[in-house]
Amino acid sequence: MQSFTPNTLASWDRFTRGNFINSLSGFKSTHLIGTTHENGVYNLGLFHNVVHLGADPALVGFVNRPREAAPHTLTNIERSGWYTMNAVTEPMVAQAHQCSAKYPAETSEFEAVRLEVLLRPECPAPFVSASPVQYAMQLVEVIPIRHNGTFLVVGEVKGVWLHPGLLGPDGFIELEKAGVVTSSGIDSYHNTRLISRFPYAKP
Ligand SMILES: Cc1cc2nc3c(=O)[nH]c(=O)nc-3n(C[C@H](O)[C@H](O)[C@H](O)COP(=O)(O)O)c2cc1C
Repeated sequence: MQSFTPNTLASWDRFTRGNFINSLSGFKSTHLIGTTHENGVYNLGLFHNVVHLGADPALVGFVNRPREAAPHTLTNIERSGWYTMNAVTEPMVAQAHQCSAKYPAETSEFEAVRLEVLLRPECPAPFVSASPVQYAMQLVEVIPIRHNGTFLVVGEVKGVWLHPGLLGPDGFIELEKAGVVTSSGIDSYHNTRLISRFPYAKP
């Protein structure tokens, strides 16, 4: 096998190192996170470091880069306490990727990439109308990861909206049916295909 030491990685430029380490941890769920700035501008950022933290209470976390690198989503969440998570599908992949660009705070990514805003009375943050899996999140906790200046943002699910036909009888959401994509590295997106579902494993 090819082997790599920390010294090898340190000798690479930061983009090569970033691609390598980002794809190393595998395929990730790809979400557009919608927030509202204090001045009313709707912000949309692309995030794939998303993690299930527990079902009762229903908690989902995501990792936000250091504040200087990705300031808007985090600040808007801290100030308003609310955000939306919207699964990305194949037809919107290019627009979603464009939402990772560093637009100024007064520019709405919704307008910049032409994704339609959907507003709901249950949540002050904007949803992505085209997404088949949308959920409203209320902030629980922002946990600083001191080692590298990133943050684990923990939120509670306060409402879920699914396109019809995605929900199975046992509560399972069939994401691949909706064309939800996964991402690896920082610029590659992939389709998914169900291999199998198994019964609860016992020793
Ligand atoms: C495929 C992909 C996945 C990304 N995942 C994350 C992530 O999980 N966390 C993060 O902080 N930034 C992530 N980014 C970078 C953000 O999208 C980018 O910093 C964006 O400008 C943040 O927007 P904001 O300043 O409005 O918060 C990702 C970018 C790409 C292309």
